[in-house]
Amino acid sequence: MAAIPSPVDQATQSNYLDIETTHLELDWTVDWSQRIIRGKATLHLRARSSSSSVDKVVLDTSYLAIKRCSLAENDKDLAFSIPSKRQHPVLGSALTISLPAPLQKGETVAISIEYATTDECTALGWLNAEQTDSKRYPFMYSQCQAIHARSLLPCMDTPAIKASYVARVKSTLPVLLSAQRTVPPLEDGVPEIDGTEHEYVWEQKIRIPSYLIAIAGGELAFRPLGKRTGIWAEPGKVDACAYEFEQDAERMVSTAEQLCGPYRWGRYDALVLPASFPYGGMENPNCTFLTPALIVGDRSQVDVVAHEASHSWHGNDVSCDGWSSFWLNEGWTTYTERLVALKLHGPAARDFEYIQGYKAMTDDLKRFDKDGMRKAQRLHIPYEFGEDPDEFYSSVAYDKGANFLYYLEKLVGGVEVFNPYQKAYIQAFEGKSLTTQQWEEHFWSYWSQFPEKEQILREKVDWNAWFNGEGLELPVKMEYDTTLADRAYSLASSWHSSRTLSDADLARKFSASDLQGWSATQIVLFLETLGTQDVYGKETVEAFEGIYGFNKNANPEIKLRWFLFALKAGLYAPEAAHWVRNQGRMKYCRPTYRAIYQVDKDLARKTFNEYGVGFLHPIARRLIAQELGLEAGGDKGKKQ
Ligand code: BES
Ligand code: ZN
Repeated sequence: MAAIPSPVDQATQSNYLDIETTHLELDWTVDWSQRIIRGKATLHLRARSSSSSVDKVVLDTSYLAIKRCSLAENDKDLAFSIPSKRQHPVLGSALTISLPAPLQKGETVAISIEYATTDECTALGWLNAEQTDSKRYPFMYSQCQAIHARSLLPCMDTPAIKASYVARVKSTLPVLLSAQRTVPPLEDGVPEIDGTEHEYVWEQKIRIPSYLIAIAGGELAFRPLGKRTGIWAEPGKVDACAYEFEQDAERMVSTAEQLCGPYRWGRYDALVLPASFPYGGMENPNCTFLTPALIVGDRSQVDVVAHEASHSWHGNDVSCDGWSSFWLNEGWTTYTERLVALKLHGPAARDFEYIQGYKAMTDDLKRFDKDGMRKAQRLHIPYEFGEDPDEFYSSVAYDKGANFLYYLEKLVGGVEVFNPYQKAYIQAFEGKSLTTQQWEEHFWSYWSQFPEKEQILREKVDWNAWFNGEGLELPVKMEYDTTLADRAYSLASSWHSSRTLSDADLARKFSASDLQGWSATQIVLFLETLGTQDVYGKETVEAFEGIYGFNKNANPEIKLRWFLFALKAGLYAPEAAHWVRNQGRMKYCRPTYRAIYQVDKDLARKTFNEYGVGFLHPIARRLIAQELGLEAGGDKGKKQ
């Protein structure tokens, strides 16, 4: 068995091993003019420690203004302390609250904390009215994964702890949470914006980790898609959003159900956010958050919904118990997302996703191929205390993870054999958080029922290489069905062999019709394959643009690969800088800023300062500022 330690979560300062949160009551007011949320969080706690009694609770906070702590049952003050000096740059400030009497294992208590967020809050993105579609009202949304929930509420900010919640939120603009609405009742629809404060009550009855707490507010409209699926967006965009997902949302959830077992959460709705949302998607329960960059009009990016829906089982129901085992969320989800592709579109479509993911993974493995960063090449990342999981975030967890599971699936004889195991795994850990070690123990106990399979697995799989291996390759060479990739490969290779031809010869040999009938993802693969070849000369890339006209393409997936390819030849930095102004999804803006920076440092910094700072979510702002060698990057943006 591989030596995978079961570490405690190194990204929390809470005493979660001694005492756990089981339920949260959030009484919040959204203060749109101050750009803060203020109110009270009541934590229902239960002692866990069997070795000694528990006399205090330590919670994670980050840039919160803590006003008062009290015992929920009688409102009596509780003594608390929080360091007054500058907070830990990654972990924030530990809030220590004394309990009125020590608790023995199993005993419970509820404490309330009156507090407000501040303008240093890293979870919340606030947009002014001009930054929205209708330009009529401000907009606000959270992104708590990985460790930003602590800047929204005092909590045990670790995926090891799961709590149900009820949120009573007062706001002049409608709000959505990662829960189901009970007040006003769903049949009442979206309350009108009338300048007065409304109260909304949202309940999440299933216990979830803190990183899945989410809120968004603004001018919002809803369109139903299927019997339990629907889409939220700003009113001017909601029909385009409904069109993008109406064919797929419901069938993706039901396909995932066939693979994973019944969907336990009730509704599956999604919210399309303004462009500054830093991720492609975020699996907030009952309310997946999506980037508007998916709304391209051709339904070419719906696999993101298959991915986020698959998290309903892997991540939201069965959760990693610390960021070292993040692959249990993302690797399993990516594996499942691609099984959904297999069921809906066949084996070639499934493998095409692996081919694309392989490229993203290789790029990330290269990015981390330097001293001090190599542990990010591992599937199981051994974090040290205080390291920031956002800095180690990459497609390694996704693609090494999914390939590992795909490899195991192939070894035991295919999906038909492996899927019952997947279901058994989900059933065994439903509602729980687990470590990689626990995953492995369950794995062997399952396969011990099938000695022949177990023997193959024991003989073939190099566990240590998969979990602790570094370097630029997977431990085994994977063979994929390349049916959907072949035309991209062959056009790229004919460009490669023509790259020294004159413009006139190139124009004779190639034409825009080369790409006729291609899917957006095939064009992406074509551009990525070109990018892995030798650097093309400026003239060739200009001739290439003359033929295909990618500068005018509106699909952000294509645009990203095009700019990365062209910028390698030193071309089109101004066009890329113009485009990146409005790209908030980190998958697009981070590499584009990075590539512009290689070509023209001043342009990259100027674009960031003029546009990025006021527009980007705090998480993206900080990471990009770092890469451009700028200090703290957000200071100027906060008040805009
Ligand atoms: N849970 C992730 C997003 C995330 C991970 C946010 C870690 C913060 C920290 C989400 O499910 C995800 O993987 N999104 C991808 C979608 C893609 C793989 C289809 C993204 O944003 O690109
Ligand atoms: Zn994911």
